[in-house]
Amino acid sequence: MNTIIGTNVSLAAQLLREGKLVAIPTETVYGLAGNALNPDTVIRIFEAKNRPTFNPLILHVPSVEAAQLYVQAIPDSIRLLMERFSPGPISYLLPKRDIVPDMVTSGSDRVVIRIPNHPVTLELLQQLDFPLAAPSANPFGYVSPVTAEDVYQGLSGKIDYILDGGPCTVGLESTIVGEEEGELVVYRLGGITVEQMEAVTGCSPRLALLHKRPDTPGQLKSHYAPGKQVLLGDVEQQLAGMNPLRAGVISFSREYKGVGKLCVLSPSGDLREAAAGLFRALRDMDAADVDVILAERFPDEGIGRAINDRLTRASAKL
Ligand code: TXA
Ligand code: MG
Repeated sequence: MNTIIGTNVSLAAQLLREGKLVAIPTETVYGLAGNALNPDTVIRIFEAKNRPTFNPLILHVPSVEAAQLYVQAIPDSIRLLMERFSPGPISYLLPKRDIVPDMVTSGSDRVVIRIPNHPVTLELLQQLDFPLAAPSANPFGYVSPVTAEDVYQGLSGKIDYILDGGPCTVGLESTIVGEEEGELVVYRLGGITVEQMEAVTGCSPRLALLHKRPDTPGQLKSHYAPGKQVLLGDVEQQLAGMNPLRAGVISFSREYKGVGKLCVLSPSGDLREAAAGLFRALRDMDAADVDVILAERFPDEGIGRAINDRLTRASAKL
């Protein structure tokens, strides 16, 4: 299969109607999309990514009205978050309607649904009369893609079209939230922070990160992993025990002299800017002439918590 990169939304819509796979831009990361209501297409999404079928997919829709076609009653706290943050980098785990194929949710009676905030993909979703199932558009286990070229590098030959919407502005996946027994629960840290949700709902959500739960086999501890070893923590101390020229360093705002490659994610110390550059930095380090990647731990607040979550998983052994 010949994979084409382009900006033709109508062509992307046509291919999706034919059951084909199209990578789509979102504000978080690029997604590998197909018609969520077509089980044959959904199977091919898993195959293209080499992803185990027990790891369910997110449903993408253009509006809250469209979301209501696929989920049952929306709890008040979730509705508040939707009104405030959608379209945006947040997804909701809700009881599904029967129309959503079991293949999408890996057999669960709950589905994750999201309204992405990217003009190109919103236009695309509006042209379709079905929702798009879309995991991040990377081979399973690797760093998520933040440009059309990243997608091409990982999936060329496996999908029909890559809809180029420029670099992703948030750069980390969506936050996943739900409600259990009246309590707001965060399943994945992401683009909308815990602090932002607290400000809207007036209460602190419980953290139940999927990849730390033994009952969710699709959530492996090691993820977002580049080909090289990632060491997270005190960079200075790590450098003292190795040839610094063979090390690549990812820092928040600090300079390190004499290292093989350095990525300072935000010289001015802005966590949002750092988040937007993280996956690019991991990919650049993978391509650089260094043997190991050293990363600072980020301040554990705001989107810094999501950055630390991704770095921890990038550094984990399987
Ligand atoms: O920002 C994002 O959310 C991106 C863009 C493309 O929208 N998508 C994304 O999808 O990150 P993916 O498949 O890489 O991650 C979705 C996560 C997975 O960890 C999956 O296990 C979990 O959501 N998930 C999806 N549906 C679920 C369900 N029904 N129950 C529990 N977990 C679910
Ligand atoms: Mg992913």
